[in-house]
Amino acid sequence: TAGRAAAVAHPNIALIKYWGKRDEHLVLPRTDSLSMTLDLFPTTTRVVLDPAAEQDTVTLNGLPLTGEAQRRVAAFLDLVRRRAGSSRRAVVHTENTVPTGAGLASSASGFAALAVAAAAAYGLGLDATALSRLARRGSGSAARSLFGGFVQWHAGPSSAPPTEADLASYAEPVPVAAFEPALVIAVVNAGPKAVSSRAAMRRTVDTSPLYQPWARSSERDLAEMRAALRRGDLDAAGEIAERNALGMHATMLAARPAVRYLAPATLTVLDAVIGLRQEGVPAYATMDAGPNVKVLCHRTDAGRVADAVRGAAPDAAVHTAGPGTGARLLDE
Ligand code: DP6
Repeated sequence: TAGRAAAVAHPNIALIKYWGKRDEHLVLPRTDSLSMTLDLFPTTTRVVLDPAAEQDTVTLNGLPLTGEAQRRVAAFLDLVRRRAGSSRRAVVHTENTVPTGAGLASSASGFAALAVAAAAAYGLGLDATALSRLARRGSGSAARSLFGGFVQWHAGPSSAPPTEADLASYAEPVPVAAFEPALVIAVVNAGPKAVSSRAAMRRTVDTSPLYQPWARSSERDLAEMRAALRRGDLDAAGEIAERNALGMHATMLAARPAVRYLAPATLTVLDAVIGLRQEGVPAYATMDAGPNVKVLCHRTDAGRVADAVRGAAPDAAVHTAGPGTGARLLDE
């Protein structure tokens, strides 16, 4: 085996959300989801196998990972080792340019890069589909960051036995008409989140009376989203994305106890987005497990959208992303 490898991956933002698992261990989702991979915030991960080490060593931006985060990476490496028939431990160095824990899906780029680098270092020889399934085990949304542009993650058949279900749940690129979308990202609060998305989605599935209706409507949203992207219809895609995200947040607000990620600044930015539409600028919002707002718009409107967002939330850091590339090995 190679013994060492490095990979880079980008975060993705879901336009049709992944919210709820049907199998926690295999990370099988209850619904399909669809995202855009960003051309911002790459994560670079280096994996070096160390035959002498008794533990995995993992650093994030130069600092050792601890607690739950360390445990999750070690469990992921155990899975790779089982497949490779190896007992060798690894030294993992990750450089992450995403504001960690800010609802900007740093776990997506993180586990996508780790899956690619670890699979190569342990000599697994997996194709992109198999790498997507593998990345899914680290964090569901990571399955989508294996690919660039617009990407659908298949839930797979809900009643299939585990082995079959695992094989059926992976991401793949979605056909898109030639159009130039952008996501204007307003980081209204880069602090760590109150409840992890993992815990919040579990609570939502277990206790929210709105969960099932949202999951059912999400299926229709996904089919309509695919059609909108295929014709390059930004207005339709934006409208579907916005209602899917607001619906997801409604399921959480109805959970017991409620999970609320939306902050005052989130709503101020949402009002600005509505204001833009009233002025004839196509702009549509989506929010994940945090207060940040991502605004889908035409590339040519991104400057105007960013200005409106800054006006509404003067303390926000604003970034503009286009469609980015999938995870890949670095040759070094
Ligand atoms: C709101 O992929 O972080 O961003 O599978 O438990 O690691 P785990 O969850 P994660 O959840 C992402 C949820 C979301 C929506 C989405 O990205 O689809």
